[in-house]
Amino acid sequence: MRLTIAIDGPAAAGKGTLSRALAAAFGLAHLDTGLIYRAAGRRTLDGTGALEAAQSLTAADLEADDLRTPDVARAASVVAAIPEVRAALVDFQRAFARRQGGAVLDGRDIGTVICPEAEMKFFVTASDEVRAERRYAELIESGHDVTLASVLADLRERDARDSARAAAPLKPAEDAEVLDTSEMDIDTAVATAIAMVTARTGIPPVA
Ligand code: CDP
Repeated sequence: MRLTIAIDGPAAAGKGTLSRALAAAFGLAHLDTGLIYRAAGRRTLDGTGALEAAQSLTAADLEADDLRTPDVARAASVVAAIPEVRAALVDFQRAFARRQGGAVLDGRDIGTVICPEAEMKFFVTASDEVRAERRYAELIESGHDVTLASVLADLRERDARDSARAAAPLKPAEDAEVLDTSEMDIDTAVATAIAMVTARTGIPPVA
């Protein structure tokens, strides 16, 4: 059995929560590819060049505890628009996608560029306002001093940059299932996604 699940979508659409739940349900490894770009962007804030930052990432960089801040998210989307940066990060992601036992990867270009052969592809989205409210709640919960208006503006700016770039822009793969979670709570979104995977691949959940 081979199963790669690709999950793409705009900022704060719920890709992470959905990815972790699908990985658990189907017994797959999970890679949050946004963390890789965040770790590279985070290093540029210390003055490191973008390409050098991407080429010299270590496992410890991915575990830094300050990768979820608005500043790092913005830096991530700036470095992510540089084709050489993306090229430096492709092999690792492709190898992970096709690892034995299967994998879930979430990001912006998983179904289009990293793993076009994925057996299942989702494009997860929600309205701008719903996404901003979810991200605002997460940031407040983790002690950040932000306003709902600044979070909404940040998401829109990042989505515009991610969608407009020439290198691997954010867009649904032609064969992706679009999952709009604006009106769904997380349990409904997870149950819907699990059913879609089984319907398309014939593979039942293990948990
Ligand atoms: O969690 P959120 O959806 O806000 O962002 P993320 O998935 O952690 O990604 C942060 C940034 O990294 C995005 O805005 C993209 O610019 C970039 N990224 C990318 O270009 N390609 C990916 N596969 C994943 C992230």
